[in-house]
Amino acid sequence: MIVILDFGSQYSELIARRIRETQVYSEVLSYRTTAEQLRQLNPKGIILSGGPNSVYDNGAPRCHPEIWNMGLPILGVCYGMQLMVQQLGGEVAKADRGEYGKASLYIDDPTDLLTNVEDGTTMWMSHADSITQMPEQFELLAHTENTPCAAIAHHDKKLYGVQFHPEVVHSVGGIALIRNFVYHICECEPTWTTAAFVEQAIREIRARVGEKRVLLALSGGVDSSTLAFLLHKAIGDQLTCVFIDQGFMRKYEPERLIKLFQEQFHIPVEYVNARERFLSSLSGITDPEEKRRMIGYEFISTFEETSRRLGPFDYLAQGTLYPDVIESANTNVDPQTGERVAVKIKSHHNVGGLPKDLRFKLVEPLRKLFKDEVRKVGRAIGLPEEIVQRHPFPGPGLAIRILGEITAERLNILRDADLIVRQEINKRDLYHDYWQAFAVLLPIRSVGVMGDQRTYAFPIVLRIVTSEDGMTADWARVPYDVLEVISNRIVNEVKGVNRVVYDITSKPPGTIEWE
Ligand code: XMP
Repeated sequence: MIVILDFGSQYSELIARRIRETQVYSEVLSYRTTAEQLRQLNPKGIILSGGPNSVYDNGAPRCHPEIWNMGLPILGVCYGMQLMVQQLGGEVAKADRGEYGKASLYIDDPTDLLTNVEDGTTMWMSHADSITQMPEQFELLAHTENTPCAAIAHHDKKLYGVQFHPEVVHSVGGIALIRNFVYHICECEPTWTTAAFVEQAIREIRARVGEKRVLLALSGGVDSSTLAFLLHKAIGDQLTCVFIDQGFMRKYEPERLIKLFQEQFHIPVEYVNARERFLSSLSGITDPEEKRRMIGYEFISTFEETSRRLGPFDYLAQGTLYPDVIESANTNVDPQTGERVAVKIKSHHNVGGLPKDLRFKLVEPLRKLFKDEVRKVGRAIGLPEEIVQRHPFPGPGLAIRILGEITAERLNILRDADLIVRQEINKRDLYHDYWQAFAVLLPIRSVGVMGDQRTYAFPIVLRIVTSEDGMTADWARVPYDVLEVISNRIVNEVKGVNRVVYDITSKPPGTIEWE
């Protein structure tokens, strides 16, 4: 295992993912982790991440001083390198000129860390401080036009530092460097494979759960589906899968999901039809946050009732993923105040968001995985591509795509419009080009004309976006003819709609969903 000590870089997770792509397991831990704690984890190497601070800031985060003497290979990236230099007796100062973006890396020592990295290759830089003096016994590995010490090493102690970010895609030689560090310097073996994960997860589930019963809330997404699969493989009918139909799923999806699990995978699913209940409790509610709160509340009550009816259960299976684990252990703290400030934009709800006081013990077999790793596992255990590659779908479903009050009529209109969007996108093989593609219903009416008749009906908004991670997004440049067909079909086939508009707002300032 390689441990990444996080100093608050936006790229710490990315470093972990890059390491895992070399089939070596990696974890992101707080920079506060002590040498003793690290020893217990027995890693083969350590990476110090970048970070927003300057090493000479008051209270700048530092690693435990004993870490330098553990005899483990260490790679400092950006801030991590500057910290290494400062703590080991070198000097760091504000650079005459900061360096942001692509830079050509000129190699002074092509062995060791930079083996197979081409001279002049592009690396991604983002720093205002620079090394002005290396600590004793460190040697220069590479420089750029603006940065005399862009890569340095203490070969004997296997301490390395790079000013650039090898983990980002723009760093052309980055992967070669990471492979050198992981395989040659830390001497890791590529043992982190999907098959190994599945085997280990099944063993661990059996050991944790024993003869006890486990409850799982299935949503139909890749996480809960993979979870259901793993648990069913591990403990068979000690597992009970519950699917709560809030009435906000896309057209045909609940039926398809149940059929798939029961008939194809032979995993029984308890179907709970809660459509009426959700609809009546949302009646009259128009405020987006209030809607989300009410859906969350109803979901938990329905789930609790179901678990009482079918229980007792000892364990609740949750689809917690590694980014959630990193986030809740949060290491991105302000060194001045020790606090983290987050601004709530929307109250997210999903089946992973059940409150912790549900009296169950948790079983979370995916907590070590990134989303792309979950997809690989899902695929390996036989989930169909339509689930593995499914676009994100919010927990509150279509309820947050109908602005204003939710009614059965509006849900039906939106479901039909949404189906047309998906059909036309799929027909042209565009599904994988987009992060999400869906319809939104606005609770206003506009005038139109159809067959000499005046119409006064709802507009549908098309929201089709590209994105890397959902945090930022751009509206997709969907070919006009596709938009034309979608628009034509919706106004002709969906009763109650007489106008289709295309949302050309990026995120930020818009969000992907409309509520
Ligand atoms: P926004 O609208 O905030 O959405 O730009 C970013 C991503 O998150 C999804 N989303 C949710 N997912 N529960 C979820 O599981 C939710 O309550 C929720 N709200 C938004 C959204 O579809 C997009 O992919």
